[in-house]
Amino acid sequence: MDNRFWLDKWERNEIGFHEPQGNRLLQSWWPLLALPAEARVLVPLCGKSVDLRWLRRRGHRVLGIELSERAVQAFFAEQGLRPEVRRQGGFKRWSADGIEILQGDIFDLEPEHLGEIDALYDRAALIALTAPQRQRYVELLQRCLGPGARGLLITLEYQPAESAGPPFSVSEGEVRLLFGRSFSPRTLVREDVLAENPKFRQRGHRSLHEVAYALLPVGEAGSRKQG
Ligand SMILES: C[S@@+](CC[C@H](N)C(=O)[O-])C[C@H]1O[C@@H](n2cnc3c(N)ncnc32)[C@H](O)[C@@H]1O
Repeated sequence: MDNRFWLDKWERNEIGFHEPQGNRLLQSWWPLLALPAEARVLVPLCGKSVDLRWLRRRGHRVLGIELSERAVQAFFAEQGLRPEVRRQGGFKRWSADGIEILQGDIFDLEPEHLGEIDALYDRAALIALTAPQRQRYVELLQRCLGPGARGLLITLEYQPAESAGPPFSVSEGEVRLLFGRSFSPRTLVREDVLAENPKFRQRGHRSLHEVAYALLPVGEAGSRKQG
């Protein structure tokens, strides 16, 4: 999708993807990654997700990436935080209370914009991107994540013929193809979420699954498929 598409979504407040209570798969599965509290977590395409605050409450330093200024402003306002804002190249860096958001186009990022990153949290980022963008996104992550980095990836799966997206359906096969060079992806859970997503039902979807993967360092024990 082009940037205008997402900026318009925020302008019109068409943000059905936003979860005011945060993501429950994050809350259930993040502890499995066994990250130290001081780990620095990258949250690409973060929107105004309250998951940023949830990660911060666990002690992590958090770095979001988001295109829309409206989304970033809303995040800090809704969290009652007063951010410091400074320019960094083509980006604006907003920061308060251990949470930073680099506002700009993720595809303009260079690893030096980010500093050291220990972990990745991707919910509705990969699936917001078209197939060619997904390839570029994963290549970018490979350049930006430190050795030994690990992550949690949350995707959606449905019959691609039932919708043009976004969100795009990303199969387990594609996840393994995209991430398999730099991680051992481990399937944690595949939940049927059609009943709680009336918009998908109205659009004629007959199946919808939310899938969580642990992205573990290559060769780490326990990379076998579960669930
Ligand atoms: C489907 S939303 C998911 C937001 C968030 N992860 C959540 O769980 O609520 C995708 C977000 O990515 C942002 N986005 C889209 N393309 C982007 C890009 N090229 N660079 C940075 N952010 C982008 C959009 O503005 C939007 O907020």
